[in-house]
Amino acid sequence: MLKVAVIGLGPIGNRHAQIYQQDPLAVLVGVCDINRARADEASANLHVPAFYDAPTMLAALKPDLVSVTTGGYEYGSDHFIPTMQALEAGCHVLCEKPICNEIPKAQQMVDTARTKGLRLGVNLNHRFTPAARLAKQWQNENRLGHLLFINMSMWIFNPNESSPYFQIKALHPHTVDIMRHFCGDVEAVHCLGAKAPGRKIWSTATFNLKFKNGVVGTLTGSYDIQRGHPMERCEVAGVNGRFVIDDMYRQATLYPAGDPVKSVFTNPVFGGMRDFEETFRNRLHVFLDEVSRGLPPEQIDGSGADGLAAQKVLAAAVESLETGRMIAVA
Ligand SMILES: NC(=O)c1ccc[n+]([C@@H]2O[C@H](COP(=O)([O-])OP(=O)(O)OC[C@H]3O[C@@H](n4cnc5c(N)ncnc54)[C@H](O)[C@@H]3O)[C@@H](O)[C@H]2O)c1
Repeated sequence: MLKVAVIGLGPIGNRHAQIYQQDPLAVLVGVCDINRARADEASANLHVPAFYDAPTMLAALKPDLVSVTTGGYEYGSDHFIPTMQALEAGCHVLCEKPICNEIPKAQQMVDTARTKGLRLGVNLNHRFTPAARLAKQWQNENRLGHLLFINMSMWIFNPNESSPYFQIKALHPHTVDIMRHFCGDVEAVHCLGAKAPGRKIWSTATFNLKFKNGVVGTLTGSYDIQRGHPMERCEVAGVNGRFVIDDMYRQATLYPAGDPVKSVFTNPVFGGMRDFEETFRNRLHVFLDEVSRGLPPEQIDGSGADGLAAQKVLAAAVESLETGRMIAVA
């Protein structure tokens, strides 16, 4: 069993901590928040010691693995320091998305993990569902054939008015990761933004993407729509067939080209995924399993490098929004 600690005890950190307590591969040993009230409340609920600064906790508990579930500006500025502290202490790290809101710091996180031979994962939880796994299997079985295009969309309601690029940089690590998961690295991106009535930030956006392998794609996202259907949709098409994943885990449908008979996976009532929280459960378990098995760091599913690659696409999208031009991804 791995000794696990959590840094940052907001709603998401508490969720990580609870999931670790229920996972047979982990034992939760401590929680840390610079906000003492939050640390103390989590400690009382979870029956583990509270700490108020990460280096003290890391030295005292020597965890094998740490979840960094801080937030900050653009929901990512507070990830850098505790991630670096945990890596310096020799811990494997699962960091929330976005890996960081600044590319040079995200790069430093990835480079440090690589240099130290540690595993750095990012909570790109949307790819950790049976529906997404089946879709990947269809792709690996060549049921799509040569890939042509991808259409992706995702929306939730988030009225937070902060950075002009909050929606782009904090929501779309998920969508861009799914797009990269199926279609590979992105070469260039063009982005258009919109603002819902009363909003000052680019709370809705569309993106055109060109992938390095020649695939073309569209992405639409928004922080302006109250939860409804669909919240997330992913359609990938090739010359032999096309699949659609609805709402991450609800349904995956394969439409073979030239065949009116389609294959449909529907999330089962018994033994299926109960809700969105289960994407966290699956993702955390996969990371625990990979660390337990000693999987080479470069083979981590939803790695720091994946998180960094997504943020580079989004940085190019922001530049596109500012300049009106198509931007090559650095
Ligand atoms: N994967 C997903 O589906 C998903 C969904 C929602 C949010 N998130 C991500 O989860 C993260 C946390 O979200 P939240 O709503 O719980 O945030 P939050 O702001 O409510 O909580 C973050 C906590 O981290 C603490 N913190 C900051 N710096 C710290 C440090 N150096 N050491 C210790 N504690 C520190 C803060 O005091 C705060 O209590 C965000 O990055 C967000 O993007 C992911």
